[in-house]
Amino acid sequence: MNRELSMEFVRVTEAAAIASGRGVGLGDKNGIDQLAVDAMRKMFDTVHISGTVVIGEGEMDEAPMLYIGEHVGAGGPEVDIAVDPVEGTNLVAKGQNGAIAVIAIAPKGCLLHAPDMYMDKIAVGPRAKGCINIDDPVSVNLERVAKAMHRNVNDLVVVALDRPRHRKIIEEVRAAGARIRLISDGDVNPIIETGLEGSGVHMYIGRGGAPEGVLAACGLKCLGGDMQARLVPENEDQVERCRKMGIEDTKKILTIDDLVKGDDAMFTATAITNCDNLRGVNYFGNGARTDTISMRYATGTVRFVDAVHTFNRDDINVKL
Ligand code: FBP
Repeated sequence: MNRELSMEFVRVTEAAAIASGRGVGLGDKNGIDQLAVDAMRKMFDTVHISGTVVIGEGEMDEAPMLYIGEHVGAGGPEVDIAVDPVEGTNLVAKGQNGAIAVIAIAPKGCLLHAPDMYMDKIAVGPRAKGCINIDDPVSVNLERVAKAMHRNVNDLVVVALDRPRHRKIIEEVRAAGARIRLISDGDVNPIIETGLEGSGVHMYIGRGGAPEGVLAACGLKCLGGDMQARLVPENEDQVERCRKMGIEDTKKILTIDDLVKGDDAMFTATAITNCDNLRGVNYFGNGARTDTISMRYATGTVRFVDAVHTFNRDDINVKL
């Protein structure tokens, strides 16, 4: 994919974040999502790609825009697109930290077409690449990661969603001696954080959304990190949906390269509310300031794009 596209994708997530950031704390989950979807969809029309949404807002009959299978873009290379216009709608609705607008792009056929169901995930940064196995006990994974990172297990911080289904995992992390940060929503950004040295997050573990798993895998792959996952279909209908999307063996361990194939992926996320690694949207009368991470696997370039957007010129007033 042409490298110029990476800046175009930044505009897409910036637009979604600026639109949905207006809804911070207002409690209206659907309204927030709609603002982001509209803005993201409109901006995609200006990007020179022939994109197919493979992870989106739902099936064609469920979502009017950015539905799975929808074609977006102004024409160009054929790409798969995964979108989450608001990752962490609850967080935005409640005015809490950790929400992002996020997209992942890869050449056609390179992103796993993950149905909207649960997925078990484990993720680490580049220094612990090759040290995780989703089927091993938590303590064994932690020991290997600690060794690879030249530290003790009690120097590690693990992130997991704060859910009753994670009681056993949480107990195991604590028993192994590692520290744990429990989050209420939004597991894409913590997975990205495992790949950022100095973020203070060393491992992500637990069950969350499968679409979010593919998005996170793309970002983490761009950072050289590692991830394993397994789909969790909960009934025959979900198994059938996997098959329809080309996944025959639903029990298979999915590596980061199964989730995102090849060597040409791009990932972009703009913070809607504050994240540890990105500042949330800040509005200032005639404009807004956004903070975005933009990554390209082909070159390993990671950009932090701090942008000031001027709505009406008046005539521009940028503060340092
Ligand atoms: P939404 O943005 O769609 O609300 O999802 C947020 C999220 O927290 C994901 O980050 C996570 O993977 C999933 O929901 C967890 O699902 P559940 O809330 O059912 O545990």
